[in-house]
Amino acid sequence: MMKVDIEKCIGCGLCVKDCFPGDIKMVSDKAKIRNIACFKCGHCIAVCPANAISTDEYNMDEIKEYSKEKFDIDPENLLNFIKFRRSIRQFKTIDVAKDKLEAIIEAGRFTQTGANAQDVSYTVVRENLAEIKELTYETLNHIGEQILSNPSPENQAYTRYAKMWINMYKKYKENPVENDKLFCNAPAIIITTAFSDVNAALASSNMELMANSLTLGTFFSGFFVRAASANPEIRDIVGIPEGKHIVTCMTVGYPDVQYKRSVPRKAAEVSWK
Ligand SMILES: Cc1cc2nc3c(=O)[nH]c(=O)nc-3n(C[C@H](O)[C@H](O)[C@H](O)COP(=O)(O)O)c2cc1C
Repeated sequence: MMKVDIEKCIGCGLCVKDCFPGDIKMVSDKAKIRNIACFKCGHCIAVCPANAISTDEYNMDEIKEYSKEKFDIDPENLLNFIKFRRSIRQFKTIDVAKDKLEAIIEAGRFTQTGANAQDVSYTVVRENLAEIKELTYETLNHIGEQILSNPSPENQAYTRYAKMWINMYKKYKENPVENDKLFCNAPAIIITTAFSDVNAALASSNMELMANSLTLGTFFSGFFVRAASANPEIRDIVGIPEGKHIVTCMTVGYPDVQYKRSVPRKAAEVSWK
């Protein structure tokens, strides 16, 4: 429940103005939250100049007061940071400490979600990565064989991938360390699951930026997501909650490659109306 401390409330009405579901009214020059339509976005807590609003549903201790020095990012630096980020497919054989993985998840946790659903869950795999990897390779190999043995028009588009997956599996079996094209020997993966794909994808993007700022490298494994959607055994091993589905799988490790510059891209397709 959202609560207003009447003693602190100065009756400025900023919370009323910023409350998207219109759940706050002014009563006798004090803000009153009905807690009916409220979807607990916390805007009222953030906007109040008197710090008069709190909730018993979230941890209030983690709230930070704004400071320009700590909260602002120079736009040129931000854009350069985005331009310089790369998918990393060469990792050092160094483990990633738990606090670093927690910091990455924190970036996901504070990413916006539709209707403030906060429905994204995170599964960090380190211990049984080998088992999951093996099962994923087997599954991709199986999907590949199925696609090649049934050249339907729908499957035609995936022929290239089918051949790639079969080849990846073969090479992996020959030398699992040298030829790991699935996770590229990353020491950890973080799987996001959600009710909404958009929510988990947005969270993942912020998580990647956070990982980069921690000098870690990542790439998203679409192959893992493809395999997990085809083989429920993978979902079981990873322990995906009922109703949620796997949206992204992010490998995490320390890069064993250094890029000297950014890459070129297609011009943006933009229409101005
Ligand atoms: C949804 C998604 C799935 C991806 N799946 C894979 C994958 O399975 N294996 C892989 O090596 N890279 C994968 N990538 C990385 C892309 O190939 C990479 O982002 C792209 O080539 C551009 O390179 P950059 O990330 O270095 O800018 C994936 C990226 C995204 C966004």
